[in-house]
Amino acid sequence: MADEWDAETYQRVSAPQLAWGARVVERIPLEGDEDALDAGCGTGRVTRLLAERLPHGTVLGVDGSARMVEEASRQLADLGGRVSVRQADLRTLELDARVDLIVSTATFHWILDHEGLFGRLHAALRPGGRLVAQCGGFGNIAATHAAADEVGAAEPYAPHLRDMPESWHFAGAEDTVARLEGAGFTDARAWLEPDPALFDNAEEGAVFLSTVVLRHHLERLPEDLRAHFARAVADRRTRPDGRVELDYVRLNLEARRPA
Ligand SMILES: C[S@@+](CC[C@H](N)C(=O)[O-])C[C@H]1O[C@@H](n2cnc3c(N)ncnc32)[C@H](O)[C@@H]1O
Repeated sequence: MADEWDAETYQRVSAPQLAWGARVVERIPLEGDEDALDAGCGTGRVTRLLAERLPHGTVLGVDGSARMVEEASRQLADLGGRVSVRQADLRTLELDARVDLIVSTATFHWILDHEGLFGRLHAALRPGGRLVAQCGGFGNIAATHAAADEVGAAEPYAPHLRDMPESWHFAGAEDTVARLEGAGFTDARAWLEPDPALFDNAEEGAVFLSTVVLRHHLERLPEDLRAHFARAVADRRTRPDGRVELDYVRLNLEARRPA
């Protein structure tokens, strides 16, 4: 199963993901009665926007994190039976009923095997069904990652952060189109879009970094070093105006299962 998240804090600090997700959901041409899957729904903020665009349809949110699923179920309870949430790992996803549309935001880069992932998503779509997604793409948070590497290479962090395995797959546009086609999709398109996120000050930047970007770093650090580490990385990304800038690059992708 995918790893755990601090869902309560994520719900509070995920303004960048909500803004990116809102733009993705807005651009999907919809009839309003589709059955949709939100793949990696987190706490359900984007799921809600999708459900609002599908007044006569259904939305199933799936996420690998039990805490995210719990929080999303609470957040979306007012939407009634046409919106449901379930814990599932996208790498082994099997739906009871196939859907017309899969939407996914800020999730695919946490899964290293995109070939396998796209195969699962293809199988979850009805013939003619669409995949519309956005995740971190090639070059995403490169400078932020470099800042974490620099801070992490020094004492007292270095002994804990040595040989960290790769957490993300920030794929390129061309590779992604090839993988989508390889999984059986047609009309595949992908494009990169730099979209930095700004935080008002180093404190806010550090909380966001701890909750999202540096989760795997912090898991390896003793508790008393975690906040210091996140703050040191945020300080390195602080601009002269005091705001923290994280150099996000989004990978957009769209494809269709042949009819
Ligand atoms: C940054 S959050 C994005 C959540 C939501 N889509 C949003 O935009 O706010 C990434 C989510 O992907 C989920 N995730 C990562 N790997 C997953 C996997 N293999 N299967 C299911 N969910 C996964 C995480 O649990 C997390 O909730």
